[in-house]
Amino acid sequence: MRKKIVAGNWKMNNDLAATQDLLAELKKQVFPEDVAVMVAPAFTNLYPAYQTLREHPVEVISQNMHQSDKGAFTGEISASMLKSVGVNTVIIGHSERRSDFHETDALLAEKVDTALEKEMTVIFCVGEQLSDREHSEHFEVIKTQLDRGLFHTSKESWEQIVIAYEPVWAIGTGETATPKQAQEMHAFIRETISQQYGDGIANNISILYGGSVKPNNAADIFSKKDVDGGLIGGASLKADDFMAIVNAFGK
Ligand code: 13P
Repeated sequence: MRKKIVAGNWKMNNDLAATQDLLAELKKQVFPEDVAVMVAPAFTNLYPAYQTLREHPVEVISQNMHQSDKGAFTGEISASMLKSVGVNTVIIGHSERRSDFHETDALLAEKVDTALEKEMTVIFCVGEQLSDREHSEHFEVIKTQLDRGLFHTSKESWEQIVIAYEPVWAIGTGETATPKQAQEMHAFIRETISQQYGDGIANNISILYGGSVKPNNAADIFSKKDVDGGLIGGASLKADDFMAIVNAFGK
């Protein structure tokens, strides 16, 4: 079902003490009932976060996972390991994974398959580089990312899939897509999904926007009809800012 979602991607920030401080701040807040709120701490802090939020509506999710279930993959974390510490949702294909860690569309498709098999929810990220947009190739780039990363999956799987549109040029730069640019791309993503899987699935899928979402621009972005929420980086590290963004949507 199409849900409103606001997820905080904490990236490689916050040690255990800082994680607990931020969670303690979040626990004091009252969350709007119609918004699913999620936070993605670093791997080392997932289990403490899960324990802290066990009786709380905020869901603890993962920033990444490996495509294999176990074996000789030094330094990696599997879906089963995530599930064993209470994590049932995973971000796959973040642009930092794609560019800094050379994760290809084919690899991401494998990760998607593993997560779906393990009955996890996938937040699948897509996003174009600035040069793609300058060359008017942004729609084609997003279509290709969807096609190669997700469109091999069955119709039934789409109950477990959320899309996050994160234009790379807007991540951590302070430069946000305008609400109009976000709406235009989200509508395109929905239409592309509709062509592949039909209107029913396309209308049910939640499509989040990510890239310099802040308290002062969240309401405008969230007001667009195909924007179903946000994937928040920097602003999710401050409880007040994160809450202001959540509340901009819940209202
Ligand atoms: P910023 O909100 O810091 O731009 O990060 C967005 C992001 O990458 C979330 O995954």
